Amino acid sequence: MGINILAMGSYLPEQTLTNDDFVKFVDTNDEWIRTRTGICERHMAGWEPAWLMGKNAALKAIERAGIDPKDIGLIIVSSVTSDFLTPSMASILQYELGAENAAAFDLNAACSGFVYTLDTARRFLETDSSMKYALVVSAEALSRFTDFEDRGTCILFGDGAAAAVIESSDKLYSSFLASDGSGARKLFARNCHVAPEVKVESDFDDGFPEKPIHKLYQDGREVYKFAVKALPHAFDSAAEKIGLTSSDMDWFIPHQANIRIIETAAKNLHISTDKFIVTVDHHGNTSSASIPLALCEAIEKGDVKRGQKLALIGFGAGLTYGSVIIEY
Ligand code: UT7
Repeated sequence: MGINILAMGSYLPEQTLTNDDFVKFVDTNDEWIRTRTGICERHMAGWEPAWLMGKNAALKAIERAGIDPKDIGLIIVSSVTSDFLTPSMASILQYELGAENAAAFDLNAACSGFVYTLDTARRFLETDSSMKYALVVSAEALSRFTDFEDRGTCILFGDGAAAAVIESSDKLYSSFLASDGSGARKLFARNCHVAPEVKVESDFDDGFPEKPIHKLYQDGREVYKFAVKALPHAFDSAAEKIGLTSSDMDWFIPHQANIRIIETAAKNLHISTDKFIVTVDHHGNTSSASIPLALCEAIEKGDVKRGQKLALIGFGAGLTYGSVIIEY
């Protein structure tokens, strides 16, 4: 059983930062950022809550779908930048949207979050025939955890949200979800204080004394190496299950982290980059929101059309990765 995306909506905060803006606080330049990442500008939430961005995106999706929020049986919000440890952003949205019959929870699979969320929602729809619609939302305010003194990471990230209303259908569907926890240290941010002198008997958590607490840390080169392998592997693993190959797809919508990762993936999949939806230039890396933001924009522009086969491919902290193949 597959899914039908009834409608999508997105929200981007008004404020943007260009590459030149970063020159004011770190030793960088527009040329380096463009050539190494493909990013030109990104949106910044300021103190706007992530849940509010998610709500704005969800309102558009619900309006476009033309459904009654009371018919939504499930809300899942993916995020690495939840405004609260508890309650979940999904619970806040459930109330704010008047989706009074929906179960609600958040899911954190980092930049693979939308792919994980979509596949999780599909499994709920498949096993509960009384569930009419599910709402999946990705809402990220990365700027709140970015270390604006670290030129290697601060130039990468942007903020935004996107949402989709889905229902079950017999359309083509396949998915593959995975994680390689051995790379967990390569991309992380703490949400609770740990005294630097605390030592834990663990390869992963030894207190990270050398790293800034609460700020995002990334070993860019290592994550890059992981990403260029994970992206084609995630696609191939989902495609094989339904006997498809890359040439059967109309569009690839990968996580938007770096244009060079997308170009390398296109080469490895023997596919022209023209088949890849690219928004990293004007969104930056918005973690789990990047795939639905890119998909929503491509639908609005008329590039992605009904009946086309889409491959959504995520990779990120965890290190998680995965893909969902759907017919739009
Ligand atoms: O969303 C989750 C998944 N994340 C990703 O997929 C990110 C994967 N990684 C990447 O996209 C790339 O590794 C980065 C864009 C993060 C970095 O690009 P890179 O080509 O791997 O650069 P690097 O880290 O190897 O640094 C090369 C040089 C270094 O200088 P030295 O040591 O060669 O003298 C850096 O200090 O570039 C320097 N550098 C900068 N220079 C100007 C690093 N950041 C900057 C900067 N401006 N902003």
